[in-house]
Amino acid sequence: MALKKGVPRIVVQGGNKLAGELDVQGAKNSILPLLSATVLCQGESVLHNCPNLTDADAACRILNCLGCRCAREAKSISVNSSELINTDVPAELMREMRSSIVFLGAILGRTRQCRLSFPGGCELGPRPIDLHIMALRKMGVDIKEEHGYLNCNAPGGIHGAYISLSIPSVGATENIILAAVTAKGTTEIHNAACEPEIVDLAAFLNKCGARISGAGTGTVAIEGVERLGGAEHKVIPDRIVAATYLCCAAITRGELMLKNADYNHISALVPVLEQMGCNIYTYNTTGEDTVYINAGKILRAPYKIRTSAHPGFPTDAQPMFMALASTLKGTTVFVETIFDNRFRHAQELGRLGAKISVDDRVAVVEGVERLTGADLEATDLRGGAALVTAALFAEGTSRICGIPHIDRGYDDIVGNLKKVGADIKNA
Ligand code: EPZ
Repeated sequence: MALKKGVPRIVVQGGNKLAGELDVQGAKNSILPLLSATVLCQGESVLHNCPNLTDADAACRILNCLGCRCAREAKSISVNSSELINTDVPAELMREMRSSIVFLGAILGRTRQCRLSFPGGCELGPRPIDLHIMALRKMGVDIKEEHGYLNCNAPGGIHGAYISLSIPSVGATENIILAAVTAKGTTEIHNAACEPEIVDLAAFLNKCGARISGAGTGTVAIEGVERLGGAEHKVIPDRIVAATYLCCAAITRGELMLKNADYNHISALVPVLEQMGCNIYTYNTTGEDTVYINAGKILRAPYKIRTSAHPGFPTDAQPMFMALASTLKGTTVFVETIFDNRFRHAQELGRLGAKISVDDRVAVVEGVERLTGADLEATDLRGGAALVTAALFAEGTSRICGIPHIDRGYDDIVGNLKKVGADIKNA
């Protein structure tokens, strides 16, 4: 694939072992619902530990469009939502980031009306929102889907409801919580998503005066309150970024100390890495969680990785683990149970020499001793991270374009990997 001239790319000379210490950034998948939640707060909120991500910038643009005053000061974002002037999210902002759908619940919770364009699918396949719509309708929201827009109104107000989700959808759980915190009465969510980002959202909202219990379990109860004030909150560490750096250490047979990595959030990954032959330890010496990985020994394939909702193996870590599995002795079977089309990185990994055969939601990876550098294109956020991971191992030069995908979720992945010994640069 001849790379177009002038296209920014990440250039990696593979073969260096990683060694050193990295700070894990705040969680992208927590910052987005937290920024949405500030719409509910009649006052100023400050979120700390916010990395520089294009998705976070996009969310701030939506807040500004609604009339909230957003300001970033280093890793802190303050949002003053005292006056909202708008309840519509323009299509171009919705198109920038499909997870903007999480603003729906908060705008409805604050203003009882909202108009936003249907979030499209994405590189991972169709991203339906039927569960979001079902739940909000049960809470008294009238939703008309016309001309590619959702026109939502709750003239009689939003009331609590008993909601059972057929899938433990993260976004649907977040939207229901955001709409329910100021609803009349109590809402119960059954088969709710249990991800740490749900717990973080509930913790922030409770600081603002909400009454949420059970976050992090399959049953969440929200007792509606009159109004929410602002609050300060530190965003949890990004468990998928931590997973990415663990894979980078393992694929280079190196060792890393990850600071501000929450061991409990990556509990599904640890046994897989240990099965491969890595040693993983967790410390809490200086009051901050630290996870240490040493992958010095030759690593062997873990045989099978099956993604599932938290606390199972996270789908977002699957691409980076596939890159790692490509270099292990033996065969690894990946079963992707969450998304329809989440093996697009397999083809690009094949350009490096990886032996991967994909059949629908199953991918079989036969480990090889060598990968050789190539020109690659990132097609989505975690697929791009997988290519960077594999390039660290591949002999020679790899040049990866499609960097905007990676910038959505990684704050300076190049600078961080360079800090621990990778031969990597932006070009
Ligand atoms: C969140 O997406 C994350 N994004 C995703 O991370 C993550 O992969 C996903 O949860 C699963 O953990 C953010 O938090 C911003 P879902 P979300 O609703 O909320 C189906 C990344 O790389 N579904 O839990 O969109 C859906 O099609 C991103 O950081 C319905 O059928 O995921 C999927 O198959 C990628 N109807 C499954 O549920 C619905 O109404 C899980 O989706 C909603 C979802």
